[in-house]
Amino acid sequence: MWIALPIALTLLGLAYWELIVCEGAHLGKHFVVWLYDLTATHYERIKRFDPDWERRTLGESLLSSVSGLRDARVLDVGAGTGRAARSLHGVMRGETSIVNVEPSWKMLSLGRQHPATAGSTWVQAWAEPLPFAGASFDAVVSLEVLEFTPDPHVMLAELARVLRPGAWLLITNRIGSNARWMFRRTFPRQAFAFVLESAGFTEVEVFPWQIEYDLAWARKPFTRPSSTREARLANSTLQTRPRS
Ligand SMILES: C[S@@+](CC[C@H](N)C(=O)[O-])C[C@H]1O[C@@H](n2cnc3c(N)ncnc32)[C@H](O)[C@@H]1O
Repeated sequence: MWIALPIALTLLGLAYWELIVCEGAHLGKHFVVWLYDLTATHYERIKRFDPDWERRTLGESLLSSVSGLRDARVLDVGAGTGRAARSLHGVMRGETSIVNVEPSWKMLSLGRQHPATAGSTWVQAWAEPLPFAGASFDAVVSLEVLEFTPDPHVMLAELARVLRPGAWLLITNRIGSNARWMFRRTFPRQAFAFVLESAGFTEVEVFPWQIEYDLAWARKPFTRPSSTREARLANSTLQTRPRS
């Protein structure tokens, strides 16, 4: 009895820490996604997305990151219920297309049913590896996902791989009270720019965004042009920062 009680309390504490505070992050990606399958129907109620705020803070700046491109392709990794596609709904121009990658079948099917994601493509897949060829997207967005992947550095390398040179990544880093308990999954605010630069990105800027998340823009550098013509092309497509 004397021993059983402290052991039971310790186990309860550990379960609370891992399941509630860390959302299963240390128990592997399959466990995390199983939790999302279980709780997907509550996701919208918990998040209470404000479409106007989403459009202003995500959709419009995402759109400007691909402005000037015909047939731009945007990838949302760990799309959940289609957050990026929804933020672009009503502001998207021309032939911009969105591909939503989401491993949880339940999140994916709820997202697919949402009217504001109509016209976007859904792929059930993990962030690591991504099932796409290198340099196949004109912008990549990944919101509130990095902390759930087994190794954030591996995921960042995948995001960089599928971006075309010169294109932008929009990504969150978890901060706030729970973040420090998600060991090796989150980064202190001051360190995140360095993490993105170490992954090969340039022009990194990190902004406070929500209580639990910072938002960062980072650009995949142009590869060294192999001819004068390519050099001119690269310079002519250099854009200003994709934010208003
Ligand atoms: C907090 S939700 C964010 C969803 C959406 N990006 C948003 O902001 O509403 C985290 C999402 O990441 C997905 N996820 C978790 N681990 C993943 C992994 N290894 N690869 C890709 N997605 C993952 C989950 O299934 C879940 O939909």
